[in-house]
Amino acid sequence: MVSDAMNGCLCLMVVPGFVRLPSARQLTVQMMQNPQILAALQERLDGLVGSPSGYMESLPKVVKRRVNALKNLQVKCAHIEAKFYEEVHELERKYAALYQPLFDKRSDIVKAAYEPTEEECEWKADEEEELTEEMKEKAKVEEEKKDEEKEDPKGVPEFWLTVFKNVDLLSDMVQEHDEPILKQLQDVKVKFSDPGQPMSFSLEFNFEPNEFFTNTLLTKTYKMRSEPDENDPFSFDGPEIMGCTGCTIDWTKGKNITLKTIKKKQKHKGRGTVRTVTKTVPNDSFFNFFTPPDVPESGDMDEDTEAVLAADFEIGHFIRERIVPRAVLYFTGEAIEDDDDDVSTHHSLCVMEGEEEGEEENDPDYDPKVGRRAYC
Ligand SMILES: *[C@@H]1O[C@H](CO)[C@@H](O)[C@H](O)[C@H]1NC(C)=O
Ligand SMILES: *[C@@H]1O[C@H](CO)[C@@H](O)[C@H](O)[C@H]1NC(C)=O
Repeated sequence: MVSDAMNGCLCLMVVPGFVRLPSARQLTVQMMQNPQILAALQERLDGLVGSPSGYMESLPKVVKRRVNALKNLQVKCAHIEAKFYEEVHELERKYAALYQPLFDKRSDIVKAAYEPTEEECEWKADEEEELTEEMKEKAKVEEEKKDEEKEDPKGVPEFWLTVFKNVDLLSDMVQEHDEPILKQLQDVKVKFSDPGQPMSFSLEFNFEPNEFFTNTLLTKTYKMRSEPDENDPFSFDGPEIMGCTGCTIDWTKGKNITLKTIKKKQKHKGRGTVRTVTKTVPNDSFFNFFTPPDVPESGDMDEDTEAVLAADFEIGHFIRERIVPRAVLYFTGEAIEDDDDDVSTHHSLCVMEGEEEGEEENDPDYDPKVGRRAYC
């Protein structure tokens, strides 16, 4: 636990996103894919007399007793680690307040509430981006042509829609019929829970007044838990997302794209006549994101629900950790290439042998199980 936390600190210092070690389970999966490790493991297993638990069995009673004391210490460590993450949450809140004016300015530029000055628009091109004179000339002509076509665009048109379409995780959710609505999305914000409140974060989607629904704000809240499970304290690995709630979308009449009507032929049992009935059924849409399934109190849920929630938690986490902080880089596409680099950088700093580069696609921290860790 202690070294785990220290690794967390190391990562905190060297990388901007807060990243911790992959869970033991992730590690196991990676190791099991490595033939050399597998072979070595088999050798060990072949030579092993008795299992680890067998070893514990073989210990004298007095020693076993003391090992239990060690495990109790370990439980206490898990509780201290939980406190550590509560402070991380506080630190995130504090820094969120420092980022917010910049995010607000981003939003103002995107929605044309503010026109950046000449100075603010200066940007030194990367070496890679430096073009030959000839190419520059060509680009200029094309740009002028484009400007002529699109008359006086306001702000950065389709900023968030483009971001969403550039990120696989989100573009999978965005249907064609969602696009006209998402064009009106002006800002996405992250709000953290207040001190003393149960740990959570909300995603806020601000829309321009539009013809589709009367809300201008849609929200999605993720409840988190940062305390060891009493029944399984050693699995504690940082805060987990425990559940989420959406919001009611007040669709204007006939605009509810999360519904579709289908025609069904129905046969009258007695008379044998056939008639056509129309039925409304759910339709695929990004906006289903705001009506997630409930997490049952009992914790028992069917596989479908679990899969939907696991994907939902991953998306919520990704929007919070990556998209909102660096939206412009997803708009330009720069962040998409960088993500692979990030994986190898983080991992080489934080961990560990037997790790392959660029293995996980987007989020190095993704743990597909429900109740996943929220940091890393
Ligand atoms: C339902 O989804 C289909 C395909 O995604 C789309 O073509 C259609 O317009 C949607 N229906 C409504 C009523 O929005
Ligand atoms: C829109 O459709 C959803 C189902 O996808 C339904 O739950 C909701 O009540 C509908 N809202 C309106 C205003 O029709």
